[in-house]
Amino acid sequence: MERPRAVSESVASTIESARASASDRSTPAIQLVRLRKTFGAGDGTVVAVDDVDLEIDQGEFFSLLGPSGSGKTTVLRMIAGFELPTGGAVLLDGVDVTQRAPFDRDVNTVFQDYALFPHMTVQRNVEYGLKVKGVGKAERRKRAGEMLDAVRLSGFGNRRPTEMSGGQRQRVALARALVNQPRVLLLDEPLGALDLKLREEMQGELKAIQHDVGITFVFVTHDQGEALSMSSRVAVFNNGRIEQVGSPRDIYERPTTSFVASFVGTSNVLSAALSERLLGVAAPHTLRPERIRVVDATHVLDDHDVAIDGVVDDVHYLGAESRVRARLDDGSVLIAAVPSDGLAALIAGQPVRLAWPRRAASAVIESVVQPEQQGENQ
Ligand SMILES: Nc1ncnc2c1ncn2[C@@H]1O[C@H](COP(=O)(O)OP(=O)(O)OP(=O)(O)O)[C@@H](O)[C@H]1O
Ligand SMILES: [Mg+2]
Repeated sequence: MERPRAVSESVASTIESARASASDRSTPAIQLVRLRKTFGAGDGTVVAVDDVDLEIDQGEFFSLLGPSGSGKTTVLRMIAGFELPTGGAVLLDGVDVTQRAPFDRDVNTVFQDYALFPHMTVQRNVEYGLKVKGVGKAERRKRAGEMLDAVRLSGFGNRRPTEMSGGQRQRVALARALVNQPRVLLLDEPLGALDLKLREEMQGELKAIQHDVGITFVFVTHDQGEALSMSSRVAVFNNGRIEQVGSPRDIYERPTTSFVASFVGTSNVLSAALSERLLGVAAPHTLRPERIRVVDATHVLDDHDVAIDGVVDDVHYLGAESRVRARLDDGSVLIAAVPSDGLAALIAGQPVRLAWPRRAASAVIESVVQPEQQGENQ
């Protein structure tokens, strides 16, 4: 593990002001102050986490969302203490814990592979953390039993992990972490190994469990649907940096960068030139496919609408709805989500007119790295 950079004066003063701001309102559960992590040296240096600032409030269900390699796990590991930052600081409840060992932080982690002890029963798996802490047998049994109840696994105490389904094992891992009553629970893609149906069930259960126990959850995922449906707030990562932090609705409806617009859901990004032509503003804009309508050439627009002609490239049938890809005269492509019953006349090669309310398009900052470029930069 590389040695941490000495805390620079500017980071030290930012930590000081983070502490001060924490003391005059409810202290955030987690504060990351210019947190940085590089791996390797010289030409091969990888900047995994690039000066990240973030505050997570008490009791939040907070998601770190981003593509593979964007730095989510590295941030989580620095919060847990498994990885020492190259620069910056981690504060828990307003206390700088950057140099503290994992066992010296009031934090527990649920790993993607659950890391259960296969030779122990479920009950003993859940009791394990309490045993390490020296909690007596009767108390251990009682608290582990309550936790198994909370994750809806009462009656499973005598099974071994190998005798359970993936979703059940996931809940044992959750109970094993929660029984220690940490202030913060870190979850790294905990649902990644489950099939879609179980995954959706567990999303609901996790949310309910978090609500019941009231502990701050930091949840890592690359699945935008999962992040949007479960979280109080989401931080969207791109190439080691956070591009936007906000509520699921903010992130989806008001993305501030072209990366967030295209990573979270499907979105059209209109270039600055096209935006100038259509909207009169020479800055890139984002436009969700579901806001675009297919209209016929005789359609009379009102003042609030914008329209453009193109040629159908492709129609992708998705059941109730279909995606129409249209190519415009400048070569760019717009995707419209339209009800499938209005599609009859649309086939590839045909002219099409697309229209949308002017305010459905919102200005975004062009991101340096787009989702499809991730990985090339690693
Ligand atoms: N121990 C390490 N040594 C060298 N490079 C590393 C190490 N751990 C992570 N990295 C690099 O740091 C970057 C961020 O990795 P990280 O695991 O945080 O990404 P992630 O967002 O969790 O991705 P995924 O969704 O695939 O899990 C990647 O480029 C990765 O290759
Ligand atoms: Mg990861």
